[in-house]
Order: sequence, then C-alpha cells, then structure tokens
Amino acid sequence: MKDEIRICKNISENENGELMFAGVNTLELAEKYGTPLYVMDENRIREMCSSFRDAIAREFGEKGRILYASKACSFKRIYEIIASEKLHIDVVSTGEIHTAVRAGFPMQNAYFHSNNKTDNDIKFAIDNKVGHFVVDNVEELESLNRIAGEFGMKQKIILRVTPGIDPHTFEAVATGKVDSKFGSAIETGQAEEITAHALKMENLIFEGFHCHVGSELFEAGVFIDTAKIMLEFVADMYHKLGCFPELLDLGGGFGVRYIASQPTLDVDKTIGEIGGFIKNYCVQLGIEMPSIGFEPGRAIVADSGLTLYTVGTLKTIPGYKTYVSVDGGMTDNIRYALYGAEYTLAVAGKLNEDPDMVCSVVGKCCESGDIIQENIKLPSSTSRGDILACFTTGAYHYSMASNYNRIPRPAIVMIADKKDYPAVRRETLDDLTNLDI
Ligand code: LLP
Repeated sequence: MKDEIRICKNISENENGELMFAGVNTLELAEKYGTPLYVMDENRIREMCSSFRDAIAREFGEKGRILYASKACSFKRIYEIIASEKLHIDVVSTGEIHTAVRAGFPMQNAYFHSNNKTDNDIKFAIDNKVGHFVVDNVEELESLNRIAGEFGMKQKIILRVTPGIDPHTFEAVATGKVDSKFGSAIETGQAEEITAHALKMENLIFEGFHCHVGSELFEAGVFIDTAKIMLEFVADMYHKLGCFPELLDLGGGFGVRYIASQPTLDVDKTIGEIGGFIKNYCVQLGIEMPSIGFEPGRAIVADSGLTLYTVGTLKTIPGYKTYVSVDGGMTDNIRYALYGAEYTLAVAGKLNEDPDMVCSVVGKCCESGDIIQENIKLPSSTSRGDILACFTTGAYHYSMASNYNRIPRPAIVMIADKKDYPAVRRETLDDLTNLDI
C-alpha cells in the first residue's frame, strides 16, 4: 500500500493486498452489507472524543467544555456514543433534537443553534428540555422570551456574535465574518445591543457568548485571533453592562486530513496553545477566565468514516480522460460538487498494484457535476465489480446525503473492537415512496 493511502491509522492492508479498516476486511463488509456503504470506526470516534476531552481538561480543568457539532454526522448511535463519552452536543434543527432525544441523550447538555428558529422550533426544543439556546438575533431573543414565559420557565441562553474573522477557508463555510447570516457583529455594535437586550429579558438566563469562524483549521492561530477579539468583547460588556459570561464558546472548525499532503491535527498542542493564550490574556485584561467551549464536528467523526462503492462502467475518451463510474455519487458525497473537496481513494482489493491510471471517479446521477474526485490515480486493472474506497467520509456525508434521482441513501455499519454491527439500515425503494400520498 502506498503511503499516500494510509492517511489515518485505522487504514491498513492484509497479506493479499486487501484494504482493512479498523481491523476489518472492507471486501467482506461490501459483500455482507452491499454498496454504497458508509463504514464508521467507533473506536476512532471515541479516541477523538477523549483526545478533545483530555486536552480541554488539562488546559481548563472544570472550566472546559466540548460540544460535538452533530450536524457533521447525526444518527442515534452517534448520540449514544457521544453521551457515553460525556461530551455535550450542538444541534441545529428539530430533526437533530428528535434524533438525540430518541437516542436517550441527556438534553440538558444540548445547545440549540440556527439563525432562524421558528416559534415551532423553539417550542419543540423547550418541550424536549434542550438545556441551552444559542440565540442568533434580537427577533429570536424576543420570541424565545415570550415562549419561555408561556411555558412558565426560564431558558438559559448564550449569544452568537461574529468577531469579524475571515479564516481564509472556503467561502461557503466561512461563518465568522461581519457579513454573515449568523450572529450579531461586534464591529457594528449589534453584539452589544443584543447583549443589553438579553439582560432585560425576564424569562431568559444569560450564560455567555458563542462564535464560530470557519472550517479546516489545523493550527491555533485563527482560534487565538478569535479568542482575543471575544475576550476583549467580554471585558467590554463587563465594564459597560456589568454582565460576565459563564461560558465563552469558540466554536468548531478543527481540521482533518483528507489527503496525504495535509497535516494531522495535533489536538493537545492546538488546545494547549489556545489555552495558554486565553489564560494570559484574561490576566492582561484583568478579568476572570470564563468556561471555555469548543464545538468540533468534523474532527470527531471524519476519519472514523469511509465509503465503499462498487465500480461499474469504465469509459476512456481518447485524448481526454478515463471515467470510472461507481454505484453512488453526489447523493452520498456532495462535497466535491459543493466545495471541490479533495479525497483519497483506493481499489480495496488491489492495494498491491501500482496506481498507474489517471482517471476521474464519478457517480451515477444524471448530472455532469456528479463527481467524487477528478484526476486521481487507480490501478489500470480497475474494472467492473471492484470495490472502491473513499476515505475520510465520516463528517458531512451521511448528514448531507440526498435522494436526488430517487436514489436510496446508503446504510451505515459501525466497527467496534474489530466487529461490525449495523447502525442505520439502507433506504429501500419503498422508503422513497412511503411519503407520497
Ligand atoms: N459550530 C458551529 C456553529 C458551526 O456552524 C459548525 C459548522 C461547527 C461548530 C462544526 O464545525 P467543524 O468542526 O465540523 O468544522 N458542510 C461543510 C461544513 C459546514 C460547517 C458548518 N458549520 C463541509 O462539508 O465541509
């Protein structure tokens, strides 16, 4: 197996040149469960949970909090794992809330995001005892205050503010800039306005501030720049309004290795550097350190996942390129079409062959943008019936899957201690028509 393939330690090869994932033969998984198939490594998810949990405990003690951003991958088993790892969650919709509730997740540890919570969303979340709302705007603040009053309860909130940071990642996933649909900007004075407003709401309990600046960050730098602006804002609000946050949630965005040329995130080092800065800067500003939260989504689940496809048609257009078609596509992986995202792929039964054929791997959807990856190298013997693996698909794949072209979504099989078990069954054709009246 070429070094470029082994982008995470759960990827290996047996003596026959077959791809092993989390200690299980991927060809056997494809045979047993069919393709396309999402495979997830439970041990790796737990390992990432504990590296974040340990790093934050070391840096901040009791004052550290890790929220798994469940938009990255949301199904019942994930919430069970996260609950048993004692992490909190961020949820962004009634669907994620419902799934977490059905999984028995302790909802007092859930934080409800979204820039547009309808009254029904708010009622649903309160009904389901969601512990904290991350309030995005003044309109939401007033609706939530009114509805909490109707329920006769006091709702804990944190306020989402935009620090004005552009992390230089993909435009579509940059969320901390002033010009953003999320949150209230510090720069324009709206963050101060919403804080003053929140403190007057009789049915809301102000708990702190939240921000999120972007994705795929491998180093502490952007988090430190963000923390600086946020702590200055905290100090400013303390002096002007007399409020002090119990929690300062700095959001997610930790990077993941999709291809060999990318680094592997060093969780300890990154959290350590951010923590060191925060502690010093609080002293410099003369404020107490609030609890510090992070919301990793991708970093918890991405490299715990892999997708298995079966190769179908191969087509060479002389002078142009070779297309390798698989039995999935943009319905189970929209990320190349949306972001031009890079991936590592390998033919699962042919790791001992040279990847000497340049080709583009495409899906089966009726759309020419239905591409998994362009101009990659696979063995020239690749042919119909081969199993093709696409690595690092644990985050934003199942959660962004669609039924375009009425294609059923794949099953998810989990591996724990080298044993496989199903977590989400494959959609059937009848599932597709069940909603039609
Ligand atoms: N917290 C908030 C408020 C967020 O908006 C996000 C991601 C996260 C946490 C988690 O970020 P992570 O640690 O996973 O990078 N669909 C895109 C990613 C969109 C991320 C949106 N927000 C993708 O496939 O790359």
